Amino acid sequence: MAEPKTSELMEKIVSLCKRRGFIFQSSEIYGGLNGFWDYGPLGAELKRNIKECWWRSMTQLRDDVVGLDASIIMHPKIWEASGHTSTFSDLMVDCLLTKKRFRADQIEPQSGTAFFYTGASEANGGKESKDAFSVLIATGKHPEYARKVARQFYQERGVENPALLGERTEEVKDTTRYNPDNGGLLTEPRPFNLMLKTYVGPVESADNLSYLRPETAQAIFVQFKTTLEVSRQRVPFGICQIGKAFRNEINPRNFTFRSREFEQMELEFFIRPEEVVQKLAGSVASLSAPQPSTLNPQPNWGWELWHKYWVEERIKWYESIGLGRDTLVEYWQKKEELAHYAKATVDILFKFPFGTQELEGIAARGDFDLTQHQKFSGKSMEYFDEEAKAKYVPHVIEPSAGVDRLALALICNAYCEDQAPDEKGKMESRVVMKFHPRIAPIKVAIFPLLKNKPELVKKAKAVRDLLRPHMSVFYDEAGAIGRRYRRQDEAGTPFGVTIDFETLGEQGPELQDTVTLRDRDTMKQERVKISELVPMLLEKIR
Ligand code: GAP
Repeated sequence: MAEPKTSELMEKIVSLCKRRGFIFQSSEIYGGLNGFWDYGPLGAELKRNIKECWWRSMTQLRDDVVGLDASIIMHPKIWEASGHTSTFSDLMVDCLLTKKRFRADQIEPQSGTAFFYTGASEANGGKESKDAFSVLIATGKHPEYARKVARQFYQERGVENPALLGERTEEVKDTTRYNPDNGGLLTEPRPFNLMLKTYVGPVESADNLSYLRPETAQAIFVQFKTTLEVSRQRVPFGICQIGKAFRNEINPRNFTFRSREFEQMELEFFIRPEEVVQKLAGSVASLSAPQPSTLNPQPNWGWELWHKYWVEERIKWYESIGLGRDTLVEYWQKKEELAHYAKATVDILFKFPFGTQELEGIAARGDFDLTQHQKFSGKSMEYFDEEAKAKYVPHVIEPSAGVDRLALALICNAYCEDQAPDEKGKMESRVVMKFHPRIAPIKVAIFPLLKNKPELVKKAKAVRDLLRPHMSVFYDEAGAIGRRYRRQDEAGTPFGVTIDFETLGEQGPELQDTVTLRDRDTMKQERVKISELVPMLLEKIR
């Protein structure tokens, strides 16, 4: 079957998300709210599975990372210390005609003929506007188009029947100064702080101004000392957190990819500064020198090796939940792209249908954050290293991922159209979500072959109750068995268990208490003893 085109594919994915209850527009009955999304029954399970897998791999399967669950609203000084109050902004431009707002870096360069006007006056000598305006149209397009847009601009300024003044034209190349939708001039780019504001307490005054956190990371830095004291960890060690973050994005787009409310999964991994590594190990391993392995931490590792280690760990994790290496790109940011605090950043990108885009950033942040909080709070962030007999502010490697972006990547990755036989063996096209069993919203569907046979229903319900304590199970007795398979294929359920007459022992004692286990992707069915179902399925979904 031919690959659907990219935009067509994205449309199909968005429609499936709504139809099957993965993702809904927030506040839909009121027309929605741009940049906000709700997760339906399948989406909520998918997100929970992503977070549980991440948490398990970070905390339960390691000795050197502990968790934190901090508040969303924190002391506003935190955002001064982190630099968010002064620098967490995007450049924005507004259309002078429609007021539509764009991120300056998202305007595609355009070329054509620019029509400039010095103002406009009322044709019958009334009101006048001296505001300059210009319109860009494609070279060769009728000038009347530019004039029409310009007249609208002056009408907005109260000149009801405008005669345009001082028209002149100029050929321009690769400009980003015009609205791509209507050719109207944009405002000069100006910074727009992305933090969402609120007030804490009954008075809406500057003193009570607070922010919904734009990242979860800062809480980890602020609680570094307290967490260290209670967890009895030693550097190198990490603190991780999953939680909501908010950004007043100028232009939310690509479905949930850029939202205004989203969840992050962040790890701040604290390491020794290089001078301490040098003192203890006698040298600092260099990334350019051959290493026995970048997967087994060594005492002579400085930030470069730890950074590489976390890039590899994170890619391995993505692979473990079904994102193949060929769907991911490891992008090392160029020097000029790095944030002011970063020594190096690797973005893990995913090949979305709308382009290859960031899933996670892994930054080597030096001691920037802890030093800033030490300065702004007046509280020491120093750590006494028993082994090195040295006091220092630890350095940090930060793998920072987005739950919602990952959910979207997994949905895009899982979407598949193929051919499957219906009840009569005739091939029909099916939509199947090929989620890895670890993150699939429902792990197994239970089907009695016929719903009007009480013995089959009773047995199927017993199997459901057997599996339920161990995994998410869906019981379905409605409709032909082929239809029921198709419904579960669309939900991405990796396994289907059918209870038939053999299960009841009607075809002989050897098949009694066995069921058919159907694999979603291969559609192969095997006969399995009910008593073996739990261990067999647990092995596949863990
Ligand atoms: N503490 C570092 C930090 O927040 P970031 O690159 O701004 O770094 C990390 O964000 C991750 O959070 C991104 O890779 C992405 O997965 C997710 N993220 C950031 N902004 C987002 C948005 N507007 N919508 C959805 N996810 C977003």
